[in-house]
Amino acid sequence: MPHLNWPTKSLPQPVPSALELDSLVYPHGQDYPLPPGDKGLVLPDNTLILGDNLAVMWALLPEYEGRIDLIYADPPFFTNRHYPARVGRGEDSRRPSDWQLAEGYSDHWQNIDAYLDMLYARLALMQRLLSPAGALYLHLDWHVNAYARLLLDEIFGPERLLNEIIWVYHGPSPIRSAFNRKHDTILVYTKSERYTFNVDAVRQPYDPVTIKTFAASPKAGFGKIPDLERGKVPEDWWYFPVIARLHNERTGYPTQKPQALLERIIRASSNPGDLVADFFCGSGTTAAAAVQAGRRFLAVDGAWRAVHTTYSRLAGSGAPFALLREARSAPDISAFEAYPPPRLEDRRVCLEPGLLDRLDAWEIDPAWDGRVFRSTAQAARPLRKGELAAELRLPPGTAGPVGVRMVTVRGERGQVILES
Ligand SMILES: C[S@@+](CC[C@H](N)C(=O)[O-])C[C@H]1O[C@@H](n2cnc3c(N)ncnc32)[C@H](O)[C@@H]1O
Repeated sequence: MPHLNWPTKSLPQPVPSALELDSLVYPHGQDYPLPPGDKGLVLPDNTLILGDNLAVMWALLPEYEGRIDLIYADPPFFTNRHYPARVGRGEDSRRPSDWQLAEGYSDHWQNIDAYLDMLYARLALMQRLLSPAGALYLHLDWHVNAYARLLLDEIFGPERLLNEIIWVYHGPSPIRSAFNRKHDTILVYTKSERYTFNVDAVRQPYDPVTIKTFAASPKAGFGKIPDLERGKVPEDWWYFPVIARLHNERTGYPTQKPQALLERIIRASSNPGDLVADFFCGSGTTAAAAVQAGRRFLAVDGAWRAVHTTYSRLAGSGAPFALLREARSAPDISAFEAYPPPRLEDRRVCLEPGLLDRLDAWEIDPAWDGRVFRSTAQAARPLRKGELAAELRLPPGTAGPVGVRMVTVRGERGQVILES
């Protein structure tokens, strides 16, 4: 079997991350244990982690080896570009000069060897983390897709390639000397030959022309009559519009993928209650789609903006989750000046416009214990139009200092403690 080799090829044994619990998020108070802390620390089924995914996966191995049912991976594509995030909401997408930009993530590499070093080590760990019926969906494009295929053949075995999915889309492009590059490739490998694939969960209606043809002539299709009622199994090429056209789900995080793409992957290759992981989670599309489909999620990213975008997105989704982070990886909370200060009035926390205007999201812990933030009410700036909520209510039955955490549109993080 051919192998891909490069001078620095190796499988490192990194130092596992020391992960700290940062917050427990109970979207709109759902499942918040009352009184808090009574039953000890119960971690929710869903986890978001801030940190480099190599050290994080290494740290997760003892608990998760062979236990993740589905992994979607959308790593940097080796474009040698920087991808800033857009901040602020509701701006005109046709006037890029008006956008405000902030740090997003970088896809710069010294050379292809450095990129392959990154990818190889992580793919090998993902293979170990997958359950026996699990699958990995690796999303790339023309830049390195051919190399990745060889790496996956080596790690999983060439017979474990299930599909090469082509995601096609439209969009403007400056290219004038070649055909427009408007497709990505998703390589799907399974851990074993006994893998999950729910074909009926992803069937699609037949094209109206096909339905009409078979209604007119049962002999069409050379005697093979499709089950027009049940619908067809999708082809291995998929059309979903890119996020620029789907303003309603656009978070401003760069290279965000459409949720519909992830929903199809999750419905096909996992079952309700399964654990779905994304170690390059970006804006949290996989986690959002997993919650929507009744699966558990494990989402990791090394960029703070990715994690706080995912955090705000999931806080609106109705599934409790824990935020863990590598020690000292999040911005310093104490460096932020919250002015005018938040006020506590009649079991409500209220923010004044001068502070509110600077914020992207905020949340409260009604019984701050000085260690883990338990968020029971959250407000995020709406993705399109609308105002950020200026007050959040404390749930009944809590007492003690109230923690208020805030993230500004530029990504700074702040915390204020109010004595009740
Ligand atoms: C293509 S984006 C993912 C976009 C995502 N699928 C979405 O829909 O928003 C790639 C992400 O990988 C993250 N990333 C790159 N290298 C990483 C690493 N070593 N550890 C953790 N995250 C990493 C980047 O910060 C970036 O958010």
